[in-house]
Amino acid sequence: MQIPLITLKEALLLALGEAAAAQVEQSAYDYIVAGAGAAGIVAAEQLSQSGRKVLLLERGGPSLYSTGNTQQVLTWNDTMTTYEARPSWHWDVPKGIAQAAAELYEHLPGTNLASEDGKRYDDAAFDITSRFLLANGWSETDAIKDPEAKELVYAHPAWSIANGLRDTPVRKILDAAKARACFSLQLGAKVLRAVRTGSKVTGVEVERADGTREIIPLAEDGALLVAAGTHSTPRVLFNSGIGPAAQIDIVAGGTTNWIELPVGRSLKNHAVATITLTGAKENVPALPATAFPSPSQENIDLFAHSSGVLMQSSQRLNFWTSLNTTTTRQYAVQGTVRAGANSTISIQLYLTHGTSSLGEVSITPDGKTNMTISPLLRSAEDREAMSAGVNMFLEYARLPDSILTVADNVTAEAILTKIASGAHNLGTAQMRVSNDGKSVVDEDTKVWGTDNLFVVDGSFHPKVPTGNTQAPIMIAAKYAAKRILALRRDW
Ligand SMILES: *[C@@H]1O[C@H](CO)[C@@H](O)[C@H](O)[C@H]1NC(C)=O
Ligand SMILES: *[C@@H]1O[C@H](CO)[C@@H](O)[C@H](O)[C@H]1NC(C)=O
Ligand SMILES: *[C@@H]1O[C@H](CO)[C@@H](O)[C@H](O)[C@H]1NC(C)=O
Ligand SMILES: *[C@@H]1O[C@H](CO)[C@@H](O)[C@H](O)[C@H]1NC(C)=O
Ligand SMILES: *[C@@H]1O[C@H](CO)[C@@H](O)[C@H](O)[C@H]1NC(C)=O
Repeated sequence: MQIPLITLKEALLLALGEAAAAQVEQSAYDYIVAGAGAAGIVAAEQLSQSGRKVLLLERGGPSLYSTGNTQQVLTWNDTMTTYEARPSWHWDVPKGIAQAAAELYEHLPGTNLASEDGKRYDDAAFDITSRFLLANGWSETDAIKDPEAKELVYAHPAWSIANGLRDTPVRKILDAAKARACFSLQLGAKVLRAVRTGSKVTGVEVERADGTREIIPLAEDGALLVAAGTHSTPRVLFNSGIGPAAQIDIVAGGTTNWIELPVGRSLKNHAVATITLTGAKENVPALPATAFPSPSQENIDLFAHSSGVLMQSSQRLNFWTSLNTTTTRQYAVQGTVRAGANSTISIQLYLTHGTSSLGEVSITPDGKTNMTISPLLRSAEDREAMSAGVNMFLEYARLPDSILTVADNVTAEAILTKIASGAHNLGTAQMRVSNDGKSVVDEDTKVWGTDNLFVVDGSFHPKVPTGNTQAPIMIAAKYAAKRILALRRDW
């Protein structure tokens, strides 16, 4: 039995014209991956190494100029788009994760010295902030060589940049998949739902850019991997009749064949506090606002040789440390530093490991995801930890000989009223070892109660990492795809 689905409005449309909505595309795939972000590309490439038929579906269009994005080019270079300019995680088999990480870094090694002439440009913010931290007992590390160093350390920021361009999975990993005959990619194909008969997924319903709908079938022993992102993966699951009863009611209007799981709950994110310090005795020059959108001819010429300030982002120093609260909870914090204005150092402080606040993603009657609860600093412990982190820097800046200072009236309390999002959303389809009512997938990333439905993006990550989410998401997706391949059996 198939669930007549999507939303109340669309269910009505289906009732009026089922044939028009459900055109079935003929060829069946062994693996369909829904979403070509960092996780989807990496997982699809890994699956294609098996030689089995893989289809990668992406709602959006091409991103790089070389893959066909000729619309969003830069004002100063019409063959380049705005899209071209390390983690700690403990799954049950750390060896497998370490192997997946090593394989990924072979393709996307990262660098902390992006300019190919070997120079660092506009580095005054690193210079002054490193001296400020050294004076308070911190030391320098190399975040690529020693990713586990996370206590009172700072580093030149690590970036995924190679040959003068942003090094993305689209460039390095998608190309490897495209070279295989078993792999295909469809852009402008939004996955609406898994077509499901009880516990078994038999295909996906997609909406094309022109609004038409189609069902793409899975092979008899095929599998669907959802990688639509932490906010859209819940949408696909809700529309597939999987989630909390209240969400399924919104999309399916009373359908009974659903699987009740806490999809959309346990949303996590990095909360970010901004601390602004002043270079008391020395000038710290800041790049003008025009530096990236309309660079000087000198910087354009340097760019043509994969060098100069355009190779770098705006961050000049990253740091990590841990702190304790009055409860037993231990927290990790990360920071990024830039010259926000002339003689002004802007510190973005991220609350990372230990974060306990949870948010929620729901679905609206017209089928869109809505963050109904923001996860930023909801718990008292998280607020206490963030406050302690901010106060640590305010205290450093108030020491008598500090080279960076802060106005007397600045308080952690005031800074916490302006908390921002790190946009590192995770956790809406949590992984656990048992179906304990708090999780959505098992350790193979398979959705509880299904035979062949998997979630391979940031949605299944139970914790926020100590840095940006991109590398952990790619590594975990690669490892998940290996486990899914190893599961091959009759489902
Ligand atoms: C810093 O000062 C320089 C020189 O006066 C100026 O060109 C630049 O725009 C200033 N930067 C900012 C961010 O205001
Ligand atoms: C424009 O971008 C391309 C990469 O797409 C690069 O090869 C070329 O050198 C750039 N041109 C200039 C003037 O920087
Ligand atoms: C936090 O507490 C742990 C356990 O007592 C201790 O090992 C660690 O040094 C403390 N960290 C800080 C920054 O005080
Ligand atoms: C999204 O959620 C917020 C918070 O619950 C609510 O105020 C808002 O009305 C919701 N938006 C829609 C479109 O349902
Ligand atoms: C601190 O004082 C300055 C002026 O001395 C004022 O502009 C600023 O708004 C004050 N900030 C706070 C957080 O009160």
